Amino acid sequence: VKTIKVNLIQNSYEIKVGSGFLNLVGDELVKLGMKGKVIVITNPKVNHLWGEHLNISLRAAGLHASLIEVPDGEEYKSLEQAGKLYEQLSEIRAERVTPVLALGGGVIGDLAGFAAATYMRGVPLVQIPTTLLAQVDSSTGGKVAVNHGRLKNIIGTFYQPKLVIADTGTLRTLAPVEFLNGLAEVIKHGVILDRDLFQKLERGIQQLKSLDEGFLEDVIYRSICIKAEIVEKDERDTGLRNVLNYGHTVGHAIETVSDFKIKHGNAVAIGIVAAGRISQKMGILPQSARERIELMLQKAGLPVKFSDLDVMRIMDMMGYDKKKIDGKLRFVLLRNIGEAFISDEVSPKLIEQVLRELI
Ligand SMILES: NC(=O)c1ccc[n+]([C@@H]2O[C@H](COP(=O)([O-])OP(=O)(O)OC[C@H]3O[C@@H](n4cnc5c(N)ncnc54)[C@H](O)[C@@H]3O)[C@@H](O)[C@H]2O)c1
Ligand SMILES: [Zn+2]
Repeated sequence: VKTIKVNLIQNSYEIKVGSGFLNLVGDELVKLGMKGKVIVITNPKVNHLWGEHLNISLRAAGLHASLIEVPDGEEYKSLEQAGKLYEQLSEIRAERVTPVLALGGGVIGDLAGFAAATYMRGVPLVQIPTTLLAQVDSSTGGKVAVNHGRLKNIIGTFYQPKLVIADTGTLRTLAPVEFLNGLAEVIKHGVILDRDLFQKLERGIQQLKSLDEGFLEDVIYRSICIKAEIVEKDERDTGLRNVLNYGHTVGHAIETVSDFKIKHGNAVAIGIVAAGRISQKMGILPQSARERIELMLQKAGLPVKFSDLDVMRIMDMMGYDKKKIDGKLRFVLLRNIGEAFISDEVSPKLIEQVLRELI
């Protein structure tokens, strides 16, 4: 088991990464001084697969768990569902000291985290991420939110957990398409800030796809370290944390214009390609580095092109509407593998040109 300490001005906490760690959650909670009642928020699928493992460990540590299930799906990351959670929490008589354990992917983490942040002005939160995306991305950083109307993550806050436990063993039951979704973020972390991680992924792509336990643990650990380091420096997302958005400006736009038929990780992969090409055309990124990144994504099984989407709609979605065609937007660029930086020098014309290359 590896431990990452997230040092913040207030509310520092630890992230534990390791296979089989679900069995030790109870002990870890007791070490933090938690006792008596705890609430587990999860969905039926994850509960069926992993709920009992968690429950056994809680019971063994003398904790009494109450279960709340939320239906599976992004559409339940809503204010309405948060409202139901408040009712259930009060029915169970959750108090201000009663910990909420979010067991699941990013949807559960964001929703249960949002409820924990707001119920009684905040109750202790423990994140137990069970998707690759949630382990390497959403469970670190303290962003919790729900969607509203057509707007994603529009109502939320920053709320740091007391503890994050990433049991890499839970990924064994994850659908391959969900694994790829998280892998795009892992590759992104290597590309923007960790050349060694990128090289390790390049060499070990087969180990990764066969879910080699040691390899997976190491890669997830390093990926979380990168996110944690940035969060430490910019907890409230006022500057530096923007580099985590590498590939996401174009990625989000593609995701939205496709009506979410293109999944987040796939859209981000295309966005990573676009940002690399833009960086190269601006004379910043060497061609060989750009090619290595594209090859890596392809070997991983992620897309590097798209089809059936209107480039001008993607441009609009990024905020380059017709009136603003000469306007500049913040964009994360790459100097080399492991060296991302923020620029407002990217011209919309160049973005459009690169998007047309990628059809
Ligand atoms: N808070 C943040 O900083 C942040 C960052 C990135 C993404 N997000 C959010 O994360 C969400 C996406 O998260 P996600 O990709 O984990 O999706 P998800 O939570 O919907 O999980 C994907 C699917 O995998 C299932 N699942 C979860 N764990 C499993 C397991 N171990 N075995 C088998 N199936 C399992 C889920 O039930 C679901 O059907 C989005 O809402 C996004 O906005 C938040
Ligand atoms: Zn992302």
